[in-house]
Amino acid sequence: MSQIIIRGGGRLEGTLSVQGAKNSVLPILAATILHPGQTVLRGCPRLSDVEASIRILRHLGCKAGWEGEELVVDAGPMSRWDIPDHLMREMRSSVIFLGAILARFGWAELSYPGGCELGPRPIDLHLAVLRQLGARLQEEGGRLRCSADHMAGREIALSIPSVGATENAILAACGAEGETMLVNAAREPEIGDLQEFLCAMGCKVRGAGSSTICVAGRQPTRDAFHTVMPDRIVAATWLAAVAAAGGEVELERVSCRHLSTVTAALHEAGCRISGGEGRIALRSDGFLRAIAPVRTAPYPGFPTDAQAILMAALLRSRGATLFVENIFENRYRHVDELRRMGADISVADRVAVVTGVPRLCGAGVRCTDLRGGAALLVAGAAAEGETRIGDIHHIRRGYEDPVRDLRALGADIHLEE
Ligand code: EPZ
Repeated sequence: MSQIIIRGGGRLEGTLSVQGAKNSVLPILAATILHPGQTVLRGCPRLSDVEASIRILRHLGCKAGWEGEELVVDAGPMSRWDIPDHLMREMRSSVIFLGAILARFGWAELSYPGGCELGPRPIDLHLAVLRQLGARLQEEGGRLRCSADHMAGREIALSIPSVGATENAILAACGAEGETMLVNAAREPEIGDLQEFLCAMGCKVRGAGSSTICVAGRQPTRDAFHTVMPDRIVAATWLAAVAAAGGEVELERVSCRHLSTVTAALHEAGCRISGGEGRIALRSDGFLRAIAPVRTAPYPGFPTDAQAILMAALLRSRGATLFVENIFENRYRHVDELRRMGADISVADRVAVVTGVPRLCGAGVRCTDLRGGAALLVAGAAAEGETRIGDIHHIRRGYEDPVRDLRALGADIHLEE
C-alpha cells in the first residue's frame, strides 16, 4: 500500500497556487446534466472524488473526460436516471446528483449513501426539500426511487443550513415550474460558485452567500465555461503546515474572506498574516500559543473541515486550546493517530482539548478520513523524525498532489508506492 513519508522539523518556505475546490466542483459536475449540451470546466482538481463523478456521468450516458487541463462534459446523450450501488458507495456525496437527475428526467433511482468516517450521513433534509417540490419518494431495500413528473416552485425552509441539501434544492428547483425561495440556506462560498456556474448555463439563481436563495425554474440552458473556485480548505492546510513547522508561505488563487476564521485563529496563535487580492502570506516562527475556544459552525463560522487541520497546527503550542465540533458527530478520529506522534489531546463527545507538548515525534500513522489525513501531513511537517502515513486514499479524495505541494515549500516528503 502506498505511503507518504515526511521527515519534519525543518522550516517551510515558498509560494503555492491553490487547486480548485472539491466541494465546489462536485455539485457543479452534477449540475452539468441540467443542460443537454456541453460544459467546459477549468481549474478542476484531479481528485478521486472527481473521477467518481465522471464515472457517474458516463453511467448516465453523458460524455465526460479531460481534454488537456479542461474537464469537458456533454450531457446531451444522457439516457439513464439511475446510479448503481457500487458508484454510490464510491462517493457519499453522490446524493448531490439526485436533484439534477429529477430536474432533467422527472425520475431518479439511487441507493442510500451509507454512513461514513464522520458518522451517519443522513439525507432526510435532501428528501424533505424534494417532497416539497412535488417529488414522490419510495424507499425499499436501501434503494430510493423518486418520481417528479411535475415539480412546482415554492417557498421552502431548511431546518438546518445543510450544504448538500441546499445544493440539491437549487438543482431540483431549476427543473420546477415557477420560482422557488429557499430559506435558511447554507451560505458556504461553494454555493456561490455553483450559482455562478448555473447562471453561466442560463439558469436563474440568486442570493447564494445569503440565507435566502431564489431559483426561477425551467430556464433555457446553453453551453457554458466555468473556472472552479480555489479550495479554501486545501489553502488552510498549507497555511497550518507552515504555521506548525515554522517558515513563510505565499498562497496564490485564494480568497482572504473565505478563510477569515482560519487566518484569524492562526494570527491569534502567533502567525503574521497579510493578504491582498487573491493572495495570502503567512510567517511563523513555529512556536505557537494556545488560542480561544474553536467552535465549528456553518459558514461564515469556523469550518468543520479545518478543525483537524488547525488542531494539528496547535499540537506544540504553549497552553491548551478547546475545540467544539458542532457539525459532525464523529469528527475526532484523527486524535488517536496524532497521539501516536506524542500529541496530548483529551476528547469527551464533541469537545476536544489540545494541550501543547514541547515536541512531536514522527511515527507510523494512518488516515482515518480526508481531513484527518490532512492533519497528519500538518503534524508530520512539524514532527522530529520520519512520519509514515498510510491509507492515503482518503487524502487523494480532496488533495490533488500533497507531496508536490509540500515539496514546493521545501518539505522532505515523498511517496512510497
Ligand atoms: C458538505 O457536506 C461538505 N461536502 C463537507 O466536506 C463539509 O464538512 C460539510 O458540507 C459542512 O460544511 C461536500 O460539499 C461534498 P451538511 P454535507 O449537509 O453537505 C446533517 C470534506 O471534508 N444533515 O452541511 O454532507 C449532517 O449529518 C467534506 O470536504 C442531516 O442531518 O454537509 C451534518 O451533521 C466532509 N440531514 C450536518 O447536517 C441531512 O439531510 C451538516 O451537514 C443533511 C445533513
